[in-house]
Amino acid sequence: MTQPIILVVGARPNFMKIAPIYAELAKRGEELILLHTGQHYDDNMSKVFFDDLGMPKPDIYLGIGSGSHAYQTATVMIEFEKICMENNPSMVVVVGDVNSTVACSIVCAKLRISCAHVEAGLRSFDRDMPEEINRIITDSIADLLLTPSPDGDDNLLAEGIPIKRIKRVGNVMIDSLYSNLERSKKSEILNQLQVKGKYSVVTLHRPSNVDDKENFTKILGALENIGAQIQLIFPLHPRTEKNAKAFGLFHRLEAIPNIVLTGPIGYLDFVALMASSTLVLTDSGGLQEETTALGIPCITLRENTERPITVTEGTNTIVGCNQKLIETTAFETLTGKGKAGRVPDLWDGKTAERIADVLLEHISNGD
Ligand code: UD1
Repeated sequence: MTQPIILVVGARPNFMKIAPIYAELAKRGEELILLHTGQHYDDNMSKVFFDDLGMPKPDIYLGIGSGSHAYQTATVMIEFEKICMENNPSMVVVVGDVNSTVACSIVCAKLRISCAHVEAGLRSFDRDMPEEINRIITDSIADLLLTPSPDGDDNLLAEGIPIKRIKRVGNVMIDSLYSNLERSKKSEILNQLQVKGKYSVVTLHRPSNVDDKENFTKILGALENIGAQIQLIFPLHPRTEKNAKAFGLFHRLEAIPNIVLTGPIGYLDFVALMASSTLVLTDSGGLQEETTALGIPCITLRENTERPITVTEGTNTIVGCNQKLIETTAFETLTGKGKAGRVPDLWDGKTAERIADVLLEHISNGD
C-alpha cells in the first residue's frame, strides 16, 4: 500500500506556503493528504485563501480554533497523532512557525515519522516571540530543514544541526506571489475601498504591538501623522480590532483622515493592494519578504527580524515602535528616499520544484 504525504496548514501565513508544494507534488502523482488544524477558522482568515490559491478543500479538518498556546499546541498534538496512526504517512510537511507547526513536528518525532520543515532556520533571537520558540523546537526535531536563505543555514549550523539535514531551497511563498501576480490585477479591491492616488498599506497583529497598550498607542500616534501625508489602507487582524476596542483606541484610529479600515482581506486582493502601494508599514514576517520581492519599501514595526536578508538585500527597514523613527523613516520614503533592494537568490518562483525533489529523494532513500 502506498503511504501518503501529509501537508499541514493551520494559520493564515501557512496557506500561501503549502499551495505551491501541494500543486507540485500532485503534478508528480503523489498521494497527498491536505490537513488543516483549524487554528485559523474564519472564512476571511482561511477559506478565502483556499479559493484564491486554487487549493482543494482540506481532506482533514481538525477544528482546533482559538485558545492559549498550550491549548492550541496540545489539542493539535492529540488530534494529529490519531491521524498519523490511521494514515501511516511516508512524510509530513510543516511550514512556518505557528503553533500548529511545532505541534505536528513533535508528534512526528515521537512516532518516528519523517518530518520536513519548510522555512527552517529563521531566527529573531527574541524568545519573547512565541514563534521563535516554535522555530527552535521544530528545527531541533524535524528530519529535513528546508531553508529560504543562507542565514537560515548559518543559524542551524550554529545550533549544532548536522549539515546533511539542511537543504537550501529558496522562498516558497514567493512562488505563490509570482504565480498570482497577474491574476491579482483583476482584483476590484482598489475600487471597492475607493482608493485614489498614492496610499500606504498597514498591517499589525504581533502581541508585542497590539496586546500592549503603550506600544499600540505609540504606533497609533505615528499613523496619525503619516495619515496626514498619505492615505492609509489598514486591514485589521481580529486580534488588533479586539484590542483597539478594549484599549479605547479604536475611535482615534477611525478618526485618522482618509484612513480605510477593513477586516482581513483575501490573498489576491491583498497582493493587488500591496503591489500598487507606495509604502508598507507592518509587523508581519511574510510582508517583509513579499515587499522585497516586489521592490516596495517596507517599514517593519518590530525591534528585530528573523528575515534579515530583507534588510541586507531587500527593501526592508526595521524601526521598532518608536514613534519618531517610524515617522521619519516613512516621510523619507514618501519623498522618494525609500530603500531600493534586490531580490535574494532562489526567490525565483521555482522553490516548490526544489522542495518536491528533496522530499521525494528523502522518501525514496527510506531516510
Ligand atoms: C497566529 C500565529 C502568528 C501568525 C498569525 C497570522 C502562533 C503562535 N501565532 O497568530 O505567528 O503571524 O497567526 O495571523 O501560531 N481569531 C479570529 N478568527 C480566526 C483566528 C483568530 O477571530 O480565524 C482571533 C481570536 O480571537 C484569537 C485571535 O484572533 O484569539 C488570535 O488568533 P491566534 O491564532 O491565537 O493567533 P494570531 O495572533 O492570529
